[in-house]
Amino acid sequence: MIIAVDGTLASGKGTIAKALAKAFGLAHLDTGALYRATGVAVIEAGGDPADPDAAEHAARHLDVEAIDEAKIRTAEAGLNASVVAAQPRVRQALFELQRSFAARPGGAVLDGRDIGTVICPDADVKLYVDADPSVRAERRWKELTAKGETVALDTIAKQLAERDARDSGRADAPMRAADDAVLLDTSQLSIDAAVSAAIRIVTDKTGRQPGT
Ligand code: C5P
Repeated sequence: MIIAVDGTLASGKGTIAKALAKAFGLAHLDTGALYRATGVAVIEAGGDPADPDAAEHAARHLDVEAIDEAKIRTAEAGLNASVVAAQPRVRQALFELQRSFAARPGGAVLDGRDIGTVICPDADVKLYVDADPSVRAERRWKELTAKGETVALDTIAKQLAERDARDSGRADAPMRAADDAVLLDTSQLSIDAAVSAAIRIVTDKTGRQPGT
């Protein structure tokens, strides 16, 4: 079973994807981490994330096992991720890695922006998770300040709008819901309620109960 979880920044898609993987005993890949790590690698090599040669080189030499969570989860890493992710050569470089993860025998949950449309167009279940921009900005701001990053809510709201625009406006694999995706709006939902709703969607589509 393959579950594709796409959606906007801070919509809750990562939390939902992780919980679905646990509930249905599937492996989980956070594909955003690949783009984030690519951006971080470019910066660490002294390059410019907007330079296609530097970005492709970093993507092709990515050591997935060595991704440093602390480094990739900053607001700056998120912005740089969306810059490298807009480049077709970077997306191509990361394509096979994602496809082979999805094809693992036990099944998988992948979360990102183009899983249901490009990486796994035949996924058994496709979810598109979204929430109001103001709710998402506040969630991300709380997350970052809890980790000790000093950043104004206003700045986060602007960065979020910038990333949304770049992710949905790019020519290659833009962020969008697949035609057969089920939409889940988490604006008014607690984490538990959002996860329960997602589990119900999977059960309705596949007949599979959590824990089986
Ligand atoms: O989901 P996350 O915020 O970690 O993703 C960081 C960035 O990586 C996104 O803003 C987007 O530009 C890019 N991304 C993508 N395709 C994916 C996952 C992430 O373009 N499948």
